[in-house]
Amino acid sequence: MNMSDDEIKEYYSEWWENPKDIRNVVFDSLNELVRRRIPPGEGKKALDLGSGRGRIVSYLVEKGYDVTAVEFNEDFCRELKRKFPDVRVLQEDVRNLNFDENERFDVVTCIELVQNLDKKELLALLTKLAKITKLLLINISNRNSFHAWWVNLRGWRNKFVFNYIPEDFDRYLEEAGFRIVYRRGIGLVTPISLFSGFKGKLIPI
Ligand SMILES: C[S@@+](CC[C@H](N)C(=O)[O-])C[C@H]1O[C@@H](n2cnc3c(N)ncnc32)[C@H](O)[C@@H]1O
Repeated sequence: MNMSDDEIKEYYSEWWENPKDIRNVVFDSLNELVRRRIPPGEGKKALDLGSGRGRIVSYLVEKGYDVTAVEFNEDFCRELKRKFPDVRVLQEDVRNLNFDENERFDVVTCIELVQNLDKKELLALLTKLAKITKLLLINISNRNSFHAWWVNLRGWRNKFVFNYIPEDFDRYLEEAGFRIVYRRGIGLVTPISLFSGFKGKLIPI
C-alpha cells in the first residue's frame, strides 16, 4: 500500500456515484453501453475488477451471472457485500491478482479502472486476463479528449490518473492476446468544470 492508493480510495469515496459530479452524464452513457454489451449470463461466471459501489456488478447480477467482484477500498467492499449477498467480494488490489491455471470467466468487466494503472501495471493485468477470459469489456480515459486536455492544462490531473490514447490501448490489448471486436467513444461533448473539484459547470449538460 502506498500514498497513492490511499489517495485513490479517498478520492473515489468522495466522488464515485456522487450526484454532484457533473461528469455523471458521461458515466451514465458508458454504463448504459456496458449494460447492453453484457450477454445473458445464466449459469455463467463473471469477474468485475475495481467494482466501486457496484454499478457494473448490479448489471452482471441482473443478467444472471455468478459474480466475483474485486475492489481494494474496504468501505466499498463492505457496501458491495451488503448490497449483493450472493456475490463473492474479494478485497484485493487488482495488480496482485493471480488466477489458478484452470480458472476461467465467461466475461470480465473492467470499467473506469484502467485510469488508475500505469502502463506496466496495465500490460501485466491484460496479459493475465487474456488467459482467463474470451470476453473483456474495458474502457480508458482518452488522453486526447477535451476533458483530459482541460484537466491537464489546469494542472488538476491527480497523480494517480493515467490517460491513454486509443491507438496505444488497442496495441496493448492485441499484444496481450485480445482481438478487438467492438469499440465506441463516449462523451463527445464532455461536461467540463470551470473550477477544480468539478463543482461549477462551464458547458451545461
Ligand atoms: C471509478 S471507480 C469505478 C467503479 C466501477 N467499476 C463502476 O464503473 O461503477 C474505480 C474503482 O476502482 C478501484 N480501484 C482502483 N485501483 C484499484 C486497484 N489497484 N485494485 C482494486 N481496486 C482498485 C477504486 O477503489 C474504485 O472503487
